[in-house]
Amino acid sequence: MHIHRLEKIWLAIGVAMLFVFLGVIGVGAFAMGMQPPTGHHTIDPEKVSETYPFNNPGLEQVGENEYNAYMIAYAFGFKPAKMEVPLGAKVHFQVTSPDVVHGFQITGTTVNLMAVPGEVNHYTYTFDKPGEYLVLCNEYCGAGHEFMATTIIVK
Ligand code: CUA
Repeated sequence: MHIHRLEKIWLAIGVAMLFVFLGVIGVGAFAMGMQPPTGHHTIDPEKVSETYPFNNPGLEQVGENEYNAYMIAYAFGFKPAKMEVPLGAKVHFQVTSPDVVHGFQITGTTVNLMAVPGEVNHYTYTFDKPGEYLVLCNEYCGAGHEFMATTIIVK
């Protein structure tokens, strides 16, 4: 009788542990399935120019004073070559590369992303001063590295 009770207790503990493990796995799977809007996205680097939204790089209005800026850093330049951004608007930069790792740095701002083939990196910035902003590649990427530049015009 005594042993039987102990067995029951151990069985109860076993079942409880099983539920704990299932719970952990369930929560883990749920967390992985939830992609926050600022999270990592993947893209086929061979198909960047055919894949939305990078098939049409540039500014897209997504809110009253809010934009997505889709940028491609490639050897050796940036697409779009020139972009106009409204002053004071919230701009979500999304950057990728079809070839090798590049940098995406907007001088005079805190925007400093890596353009990685297969990934889309994000950063949100609001320009509060009008003017021309120089965009540079700050990752050595080959013979044309120094010539990788473009301009963002804020007005
Ligand atoms: Cu691209 Cu350096």
